[in-house]
Amino acid sequence: MTPPILLTPGPLTTSARTRQAMLMDWGSWDDRFNQLTSSVCEQLLAIINGAASHHCVPLQGSGTFAVEAAIGTLVPRNGKVLVLINGAYGKRLAKICAVLGRVFTAFETAEDEPTTAADVDRLLQADPTLTHVALIHCETSTGILNPLAAIARVVKHHGKRLIIDAMSSFGALPIDAREVPFDALIAASGKCLEGVPGMGFVFAQKHALAAAEGNCHSLAMDLFDQHRYMASTGQWRFTPPTHVVAALHEALVQYAEEGGLPARYQRYASNCQALLDGMAGLGLRSFLPAAIQAPIIVTFHAPQDPRYQFKAFYERVKAKGFILYPGKLTQVETFRVGCIGQVDASDMHAAVAAIAEALQSMHINLSSLGSPA
Ligand SMILES: Cc1ncc(COP(=O)(O)O)c(C=O)c1O
Repeated sequence: MTPPILLTPGPLTTSARTRQAMLMDWGSWDDRFNQLTSSVCEQLLAIINGAASHHCVPLQGSGTFAVEAAIGTLVPRNGKVLVLINGAYGKRLAKICAVLGRVFTAFETAEDEPTTAADVDRLLQADPTLTHVALIHCETSTGILNPLAAIARVVKHHGKRLIIDAMSSFGALPIDAREVPFDALIAASGKCLEGVPGMGFVFAQKHALAAAEGNCHSLAMDLFDQHRYMASTGQWRFTPPTHVVAALHEALVQYAEEGGLPARYQRYASNCQALLDGMAGLGLRSFLPAAIQAPIIVTFHAPQDPRYQFKAFYERVKAKGFILYPGKLTQVETFRVGCIGQVDASDMHAAVAAIAEALQSMHINLSSLGSPA
């Protein structure tokens, strides 16, 4: 069976080389595995030019584990977080604060409206008890891009600390730790680096991490401890996701071969453009205007036709070899198509053709799709 192409924001389509890297078993005590981990961390830090200022602390689990660990470790128990929300992952940040018992204020804008630096400036001005700001760089629930650099400048200007969930943007959209000040930036193995899922990592500002001893509510999520143990032994504190680390190492070799971040960005941008153009040609409208659309994942309005049903549509597109993603909006019916993973513009053209055929086979009149809802 030919494996389907995943047009999803992680897990995503990986290369054969990356998958093959998982065919070997590694002992967690073995020097060679420890070197693999330290090489991965070094390469990750290089992507953000962060070796001088930040530690890379890897953590077992999905992306949310690493986000929760970053908040639990770096926000002291008497801290107060301004959580910026314009989608489901922003809401998840707020939920993490609530579950961990960190006091927070949520600032929510519409799902098609980026948070602005002016908003953050005003909110920090109004409440001097805030200590941290937490934001989603690319809000994957729509694909909207928030203006990270401008927000980071304002946060620094107020002397506050920034926590960035860059899960779906890291590796593709440029972030330079020498220019964008932050205490924590969080991402994971199975996103734009095109590894497999199973490991998150947090770039933690060195002084902030050194001051974080005893903050964490949890043993397994304590990044201070995770880092201290790894720095002194070279090993992971608890059972490492060995095959995930090996796959990520191989994925990073290919990342460098491709030309690093600029090349990855270019490929995803061209995927995104091919997708947007192709879908517009079918009459399917994207949810976000181009100016705030990140080249990571695109949300499309579902056809306004009683014969349309996501599950049936999904199955038909899947039968043609492509896995789509459901929408995550509450107010409007949408579906999403990812632009990331080991795919190129020709895959996007083929996906658009598969979508057209699927809609035709559902007797959805493509010529009627163009009109705004
Ligand atoms: C912005 C963002 N934050 C966090 C996550 C983490 O989710 P998970 O724990 O399912 O990996 C994701 C996953 O796609 C994401 O896109």
